[in-house]
Amino acid sequence: RVLPIMIWTVIVVFSAALSAVWSIDLTFPPGFKFGAATASYQVEGAWNEDGKSESVWDRFVHDDPSRIEDLTNGDVACDSYHYWRRDIEMAEELGLHFYRISLSWPRILPSGFPNHVNEAGIAYYNNLINGLLDKGIEPLVTLYHWDLPQSLQDLGGWANPLIADWFEDFAKVAYNHFGDRVKFWLTINEPLIVCDGVYNADTFAPAVKSPEVGAYLCNKYVMLAHAKAWRLYDKEFKPKYHGKVSIANQIIWYEPTSPEHEELAELARQNIGGRYAHPIYSKVGGWPPTIEKVLEEVSLKRGYPRSQLPPFTPEEIELIKGTYDYFAFNHYTSRQIRPAKEGELFTAWPLGDAIDLNAIVERKPEWSQASSSWFYVNPEGLRKDLVWLKHQYGDMEFMITENGLATRGGLDDQDRVQYYRDYLEQVLLAIKEDGVNVTAYTAWTLMDNFEWMNGFGVKFGLYEVNFTDPGRKRTPRASAHYYANVIRTHSLDV
Ligand code: NOJ
Repeated sequence: RVLPIMIWTVIVVFSAALSAVWSIDLTFPPGFKFGAATASYQVEGAWNEDGKSESVWDRFVHDDPSRIEDLTNGDVACDSYHYWRRDIEMAEELGLHFYRISLSWPRILPSGFPNHVNEAGIAYYNNLINGLLDKGIEPLVTLYHWDLPQSLQDLGGWANPLIADWFEDFAKVAYNHFGDRVKFWLTINEPLIVCDGVYNADTFAPAVKSPEVGAYLCNKYVMLAHAKAWRLYDKEFKPKYHGKVSIANQIIWYEPTSPEHEELAELARQNIGGRYAHPIYSKVGGWPPTIEKVLEEVSLKRGYPRSQLPPFTPEEIELIKGTYDYFAFNHYTSRQIRPAKEGELFTAWPLGDAIDLNAIVERKPEWSQASSSWFYVNPEGLRKDLVWLKHQYGDMEFMITENGLATRGGLDDQDRVQYYRDYLEQVLLAIKEDGVNVTAYTAWTLMDNFEWMNGFGVKFGLYEVNFTDPGRKRTPRASAHYYANVIRTHSLDV
């Protein structure tokens, strides 16, 4: 008699547990915002129109077209400089709460400095910002998404300490012209690429491969530039405009190949995510201490001088610490990591993430490979990163400022639909199960655009763009309809 009762109890408890798992509430918290992003060089085109000066990307692609996989460039791109009305229409079709754009520094300040403000550039962004607001869509504006004026590169760019002041001056022009209407700002997009992508590898413009000088210096000046732009807003603009400013870090999830490499995986998280987050968000400020130590040891051993990070003075630590109103980050991918064997060659992403640590990063067999070499699909990595970030830096507001899938095209992009579904589910789990305060999610990207060294061959768009059509016709993909439904229902139950 006791046995059947026990069996029943087990069955009842088990099925209750199962149904709890199956019925995760798929709705997003009230107030959660959905957006989509683009960046100036990737979409605008009009590279030399209406007073815009040359950027480092213009110089890079014109000097040697073979730097770009399909020999293209961003001279015209999506021609958003002329078709911005259509872009707003698409944002409206999707029902976006916000649209993330970036400002082209050389379009606004052709010399790089505020001695000459290009009114046509200001007018372009005013049209875009006002057009969005007319439709009830908030603009989220990034000050710097990699298109430095070439004139500033000629003065040393991000390896010149004065860039912190040049950037602050540019930020001031932007806040002055747009701050009355723009309430969400990002200073710099992915400092990791600004420094390591340019100076440690030679894949991103201006491709100054200079690990021991450029990358070394850039790491520090990029932090100071962000801090100065943040403090300027905080002091002079926040009291009247009440906006929020942050920086968009790239956060990758690192998983140990086997449990004994957990310490190495944690070092990689600190080196890539923590390098630009610890100085800003940690209570103590400065570089992540474990990384400072390890990089010094590795560099000495390997004779690889770039690995050290330039020391901050105590004043600089204080200047940078706390310069955020929310935590913004871009997330796409995960890596497995293990120590390199004697003589083993470094593979995968040549940004220094593995080289610095004398390690090898790889794809875990069950993660699929997306259409970019660096891109492995692992939705759980996003949740793990969110939990890790909260644990590292405390309970604060997190906004995902980019996430999306690279494909080779096609309108019926069920793989992208699946990607958004799976990654958004992990966001929900982080919110509901782990108590992470995520308030916004941004799809990369509104439409196919110039994907840096891949040109137009790699597609991330919710909308397909026809790059042979002079009108750059934009057509919604299946993923656009899916995302619009998610936004409309405020839920993944679509
Ligand atoms: C992050 C960058 O911010 C964006 O410009 C780029 O297109 C995406 N990653 C995809 O690679």
